[in-house]
Parts: sequence; C-alpha cells; structure tokens
Amino acid sequence: MRLTIDEAASRLLQGEVVAIPTETVYGLGALYNDEGAVDTLFKLKKRPKENPLILHVSKASDILPFLREVPPSFDLLAKTFWPGPLTLVLPVIPGLIPQAVSAGLSTQAFRVPAHPMTCELLIRTGPLVAPSANLSGSPSSVDPSHVEKDFGTAFPVLDGGLCPKGVESTILIYDEGKYKVGRLGAIPLEILEQLLGYMPQPAMKGEKPLCPGQLFRHYAPKAKLRFTDNFSSARAVIGLEGRPYPSSAKLFLLGKENDPETACTRLYSILRKLDLEGIEEAAIDSALPTGGLWDTIRERLLKASC
Ligand code: TXA
Ligand code: MG
Repeated sequence: MRLTIDEAASRLLQGEVVAIPTETVYGLGALYNDEGAVDTLFKLKKRPKENPLILHVSKASDILPFLREVPPSFDLLAKTFWPGPLTLVLPVIPGLIPQAVSAGLSTQAFRVPAHPMTCELLIRTGPLVAPSANLSGSPSSVDPSHVEKDFGTAFPVLDGGLCPKGVESTILIYDEGKYKVGRLGAIPLEILEQLLGYMPQPAMKGEKPLCPGQLFRHYAPKAKLRFTDNFSSARAVIGLEGRPYPSSAKLFLLGKENDPETACTRLYSILRKLDLEGIEEAAIDSALPTGGLWDTIRERLLKASC
C-alpha cells in the first residue's frame, strides 16, 4: 500500500513499521524508542537480534545528545557527507538508546539520509531506525515493488521511486582513535581517505569484524552465483556491456566499465530479477573493474554468491 508523507508519519508515530525511501536503498522505518515497533521490525525482517540498527536523523546536531564524546573529524565528516550515504558508528552515553536497537553494544550507528521525502518525514517523526527493507539475507530493495515482493502488497510503503545510489551507506566505525571500515558502500573509500588523511582499514577486533552484519548471510538471491571467466556453459551471465558473452546466455548487464554508479543502481534489481525469472544459476564475470564503487559491487556480489 503506497502512502503519502502525512500517512507515513502518522502510522510511524502510532508505532507501526513503514518502508521509507532513502538515497541508498529502502529502509524499514520505526520509532527508535518504541519497543513494540522495533520488536515488530526484527520479526518482519527475520533479523537476528545480535544485528544492531542504524538510527536515522534529520540533521547532524540531533545525534550530539547521544554521544559520549565528539570524535575528531566528526564535524568535517558530517559537514561533507550529510545528508548522504555515510553511516558513523560512535561511542554513546549508556542507557539512552534501547538495547534492542544497539544490540547491547556501547556504540551506535547514525546516519542523515538524503532522500527529500524521508528528510521531511524525519522532521515530523524524530529519529527512526531503518534497516534495509528486505528479508534478512535477501537482496536489498531499491524500488517499492521490491519491498512489496518481500512483505506483501498490503505493506505500507512511502513511495519515493527508484533509490538513486542503489547500494547501502558506507559504514565508518570510530575505534581506538581512527575511523575504520565497517561496510563498503555508496561512498568510495578513496574519497574518505582524501578527507581523513589516511586510508580507513577494515574494522576488526582480532579475527572478528566490529560490524556484526558482516557475520550474517547477505544480499543472496535463490539463484546460485559463481564468479568465472569461462562462460561457455553459462545459461545466465551477470556482466558488463560490450563484452563477448555467448549469445545463448541470458545477459544481466551492470552497464559500462567506466560507469560504476549505474552498475550500483542496477545491482539489486538484477539479483532480484534472477529469481523472478526462475533462473537457478548465473555466472558473474570475474573480470569486473577494481577500485572505487566497483569494490562495493564486487563485495556485494561475493556475499550474494556465498
Ligand atoms: O544505506 C543504509 O545504510 C540503509 C538505509 C536504509 O539507510 N540501511 C542499512 O541498514 O543498510 P542495515 O540494518 O541493513 O545495515 C546496517 C549495518 C548492519 O551490518 C549492522 O551490523 C551495522 O550496520 N551496524 C549497526 N550498528 C552498528 C554498531 N553499533 N557497530 C557496528 N556495526 C553496526
Ligand atoms: Mg541490510
């Protein structure tokens, strides 16, 4: 069921879960401090309780009351990238954020999304948690029809059209004096390196990722995916325009080699289309470019193929 901003705000304020558009992917929005709504959200998504949620706010100053300290470069990161597809995981004052939201961690993930409808919505509702609007483990949703496929056509969706970035926010975790990478995303690391003055490294505690989401299955369609440079027996190929794949294969093209932005916008639609078309196996071109957003795309495809 497609809603107006007024309807979405009123349902959220009454403790319902509503799918909301962001510039990255659709999220399942709920009031962060409504225990029942947050519980419903975890159940709807079949999300493990150990996987914490991102708190979405309408402006950077909204997060200051939660912070134990304001880390270095915070103002610069916020000024440069918010509203936009950056999530910052920061140490917070104990007891202010419900345990179900933070999964009991002493940190909290924050983001100021850039979609105009959700910016407007957040002003009316206050902070919302919003995990990606897909069943846990499945490809994310970049279009209202994807949300409806996972949660049914009666599910309330604020229709903001196709998400312009197409992949989730980049997550930086502030840990031991540095920002580290919790998840690759819509802002390439090379851009963050320029601003921070160092290349953020993967966020790990020993062998364990600091981002709990890394431990769970993600983005995977039912179709079996494998990376290869040999397409002779492939019935379906996920690849790039202008490459010589066999004419017998059904092609799912991410776009041109020099256009990773378009590839990001097509990625989840392609993964979902495989299942819609009943494709059981697809070959992924292993010679995708590297660097920038291609690293995000490759990482998503690698996870989707596990
Ligand atoms: O672009 C996005 O970030 C989208 C849109 C809807 O805003 N949201 C999104 O949420 O991708 P979700 O829940 O699908 O992914 C959030 C990720 C998970 O991997 C989770 O483990 C990680 O953020 N995360 C949340 N809180 C964290 C924390 N305190 N420390 C480390 N990682 C955290
Ligand atoms: Mg997700």
